[in-house]
Amino acid sequence: MAVINSIKGFKDILPGETGRWRYVEEKAREIFCCFGVKEIRTPVMEKTELFRRGIGATTDIVEKEMYTLLDRGEESLSLRPEATASIIRAYVEHSMYAADPVAKLFTIGPMFRSERPQKGRFRQFHQINVEFLGLDDPRADGEIILLLTHFLESVGLAGFHLEINSLGCPACRPAFREAILKFLKGSEEGLCKDCQRRLGTNSLRVLDCKLEQCREITAQVPMILDFLCPDCRDHFFRVRATLDNFGLAYRINHRMVRGLDYYTKTAFEVTAEFLGAQNAVAGGGRYDSLVSELGGPDITGIGFAIGMERLISLLPEIKEYSDISPHLFIAAIGEDALERAFALGNRLRMKGLRVEMDYRGKSLKSQMKRAGKLGSRYTLILGERELAEGKAELRDMEKGTQETIGLEGCEESLINTLIKR
Ligand code: HAM
Repeated sequence: MAVINSIKGFKDILPGETGRWRYVEEKAREIFCCFGVKEIRTPVMEKTELFRRGIGATTDIVEKEMYTLLDRGEESLSLRPEATASIIRAYVEHSMYAADPVAKLFTIGPMFRSERPQKGRFRQFHQINVEFLGLDDPRADGEIILLLTHFLESVGLAGFHLEINSLGCPACRPAFREAILKFLKGSEEGLCKDCQRRLGTNSLRVLDCKLEQCREITAQVPMILDFLCPDCRDHFFRVRATLDNFGLAYRINHRMVRGLDYYTKTAFEVTAEFLGAQNAVAGGGRYDSLVSELGGPDITGIGFAIGMERLISLLPEIKEYSDISPHLFIAAIGEDALERAFALGNRLRMKGLRVEMDYRGKSLKSQMKRAGKLGSRYTLILGERELAEGKAELRDMEKGTQETIGLEGCEESLINTLIKR
């Protein structure tokens, strides 16, 4: 029979890797708790209209990258390409703002974008996503950026860079857009096809193009920071002051415009050199009109998302998130011993010990080899003779020492010995 493989760009996370994933997720939960961020879980599929309106109909994500289907030929639905729009939908739908407009929320889960798969770019990928709602103060921008960098450091990411920019607001952005169009007048033909199209729909994105031909043309393009209105300028100044007070190193990247349309004011990205072309580990920013654009009240927000595949690929190999090995392997020789081992092993498991054994009637040597391979800390050897004498041999696999223990009432003493050591 032919083998059925997974879909291109959709990846299995195998048991040897899940330890790292769990480690990162547990650290996120632990740290987010200290910053008062609560978990929310939203569906992976939403009405397509949510993403069109939320992310922007002319963004690459919505135009080209969504997995969209017609449900029973009637309603257009899409797999979520990101989590922000869904979280805001839930915040509005459940009137979460009614009791308290301030909400700090996180979600961890898969996102779907039909992009060309390459290193660090998948069609199903995972994000750790945080959103702060109802906090206008620039200190909230500082707090969420600090939360991001603190988390990345805590999981062991080294050598990353924080880049920030301000994208202005509906009051100041039109003048900047005009300035870009004016600057590029006459050079349009030299731009790539995508950028030529973007000039008419989403001209800021031209700054973000990675192609050399476009970068050359836009090298001296005006900077958005020179066009900010007093309110946006003051906000950006105060965000920077907060980051400076925390001693956070950052670089202003005036070309960073982000790929989603909802951003206003602060935008930020964390990059890591080792990632190559897809070098963003995380990205985010402020979105002061998204809640109202999705039918909610006039409440502002700021958030970020970390790409888990990219983050995990950069973490060093440390024991802390290697797979959990057994406390005890029970090597039983003979049917009676196996029966006793089976009962004992399962009772120990139910009391919280990690126990493994082998049912295949293999030799002692081969069972010891398996215990070593699984990384078991101890092995309990239970043969016919030991069983007849009501005893077993407990071997310390690290030290290579062995002691005889009585089987009668051995559970408590095994738990005490094995968990404590
Ligand atoms: P984003 O920049 O589109 O932002 O994605 C955030 C991160 O997700 C990226 O920096 C990257 O690490 C990862 N990522 C994106 N696409 C892929 C892919 N195809 N394969 C692997 N990793 C990928 C957002 O999604 C916004 N919702 C962030 C946000 C939250 N802004 C405000 N709140």
